[in-house]
Amino acid sequence: MLINGQLKYESQKLAMNYFRVALVLFGAQLLMGLIAAIQFLYPGFLFELFDFSVARMVHINALVVWMLYAMIGSVYYMIPDETGHEAVGIALGKLAFWILTAAVAVVVLVYIFIQVGSGSESTIWFINEGREYLEAPRWADIGIVAVVLVFYYNVFFTYLKSEKKTGIMTVMVANLFALAGLYLCGMFFTDNISMDQYWWWWVIHLWVEATWEVFVGTLAAYALIKILDAKREIVEMWLWIEVLMLFGSGILGLGHHYFWIGTPEYWWEIGALFSALEPVPLVAMFVHVLYDWGKEQGHAEAGGAGTAVKNSPAMAWIASNAFGNFLGAGIWGFFHTLPQVNIYTHGTQFTAAHGHLAFFGAYATILIGMMYLGVQGAYGIKKMTMTFKTKMSLFLIIFGVLGMAVALTIAGYEQVLVERADLGGGWDAFFIAQELPWYVQAQAWRLVMGIVTLVGFVYLAWDLLTIGQEVSQKESESVAAAA
Ligand code: HEM
Ligand code: HEM
Ligand SMILES: [Fe+2]
Repeated sequence: MLINGQLKYESQKLAMNYFRVALVLFGAQLLMGLIAAIQFLYPGFLFELFDFSVARMVHINALVVWMLYAMIGSVYYMIPDETGHEAVGIALGKLAFWILTAAVAVVVLVYIFIQVGSGSESTIWFINEGREYLEAPRWADIGIVAVVLVFYYNVFFTYLKSEKKTGIMTVMVANLFALAGLYLCGMFFTDNISMDQYWWWWVIHLWVEATWEVFVGTLAAYALIKILDAKREIVEMWLWIEVLMLFGSGILGLGHHYFWIGTPEYWWEIGALFSALEPVPLVAMFVHVLYDWGKEQGHAEAGGAGTAVKNSPAMAWIASNAFGNFLGAGIWGFFHTLPQVNIYTHGTQFTAAHGHLAFFGAYATILIGMMYLGVQGAYGIKKMTMTFKTKMSLFLIIFGVLGMAVALTIAGYEQVLVERADLGGGWDAFFIAQELPWYVQAQAWRLVMGIVTLVGFVYLAWDLLTIGQEVSQKESESVAAAA
């Protein structure tokens, strides 16, 4: 991550900048999560200095923003490989990167320094728009749209200019259009809270359950070709199937967020049916990756060529993606997606368990994998092997996040039984349930597992900063020894 050394294309060098900032924001996300987790157990922690609501907000905003950074980075990284030439408009792209990064820094500082106060039209413009995950003030919203337009312009015209238009790039270009367009749904206000919530879900959940899923499909396809020499026809075929299914089930499946916000009751049936279908493409993607992997292994046993894993850290993270997506989004999502279940689980720690496992499994994993691909390119490494730090970070982060999800599931289960089923919901019930041992112990375990995750992150950052140097040195030593 430290150098751009062997990268030929400006576009890929820019990608590395995006990856670097993404890593910093990922670290900030985890620190904020830990503060919020401590406040769950000790509400007096940082009292009147740092509010839970701010820690939580920065935690999830940093999450979304680091993922967007890593996504933009991944696109800039793969463009030259997929199109065969440099991205157009790269100077503008670099400028946009610095503007975006400065804007993100200002927004976060304002969040931290102005934590409480009354809301008015000007606070919406300058401090906080007040919609979960999309709190960025209006000026930053508009700035983000401008930066994304530059990015999209670059991707689109690079695609148009290229002679070979691969399926991966075609899906990428079309999907990015939808992804960017959806952001606009979160930029206007109505004074009807149901309508407001309705459009808010359009951004955040047509991102994570439709456009982002298709996006990671394109990354997985690209990465499998790079790492395993996977056959393009096969990965692209699955990519198209995924596009078809995810947009179908994703859009109507969004109905699972309309159950209790004041929309008509027919959403119960529509939401239940289509959201229950959502995991199908996720499972297909999982099977697809394992199938390709197994086939390659078969070749290896038969002594076939081109089967060596060219980047094992990236491969490990991408395999975790296939599994994590299925588990976090597919299984943990399906658990609470039927209205008959959701009426009890809605807004409990069960939701948080799913949120953590899904965001981590479906997105964090593969984006980390893309960072390892970037490092491999930057150091011109032929075959990237794992270091001790790679293994530690893989183990600790995955174990930590799984542990947090299990703990939160237990807390959610207790809330369902005590707060909802036994005490019938309501203000008192909420607080009674939060003071019982199962809940408190679960929150304590979440904190422990959060610390495990943070230690894993330290190994990850350390590894990303040093693995290039380490492995390329080994590689040149072995070349020298062979000569
Ligand atoms: C990678 C994809 C996914 C991600 C990142 C994700 C993430 C999340 C997050 C963060 C929330 C909490 C939102 C809030 O703050 O209120 C949520 C809610 C929810 N998700 Fe997902 N999700 C994904 C896929 C799915 C799938 C495939 C299903 C269903 C099969 C699903 C079902 C639900 C339901 C029912 C809720 C509402 C929970 C409640 O009522 O409190 N999700 N999701
Ligand atoms: C050091 C590790 C972490 C800790 C201690 C932590 C802690 C927390 C806490 C305390 C909340 C607020 C929950 C609530 O309001 O009930 C939260 C929310 C959230 N965190 Fe984390 N977190 C950590 C890592 C992560 C990671 C790695 C991801 C995803 C990649 C993530 C994604 C989320 C999401 C999506 C929410 C919102 C959930 C919802 O709306 O239901 N967190 N986290
Ligand atoms: Fe959803």
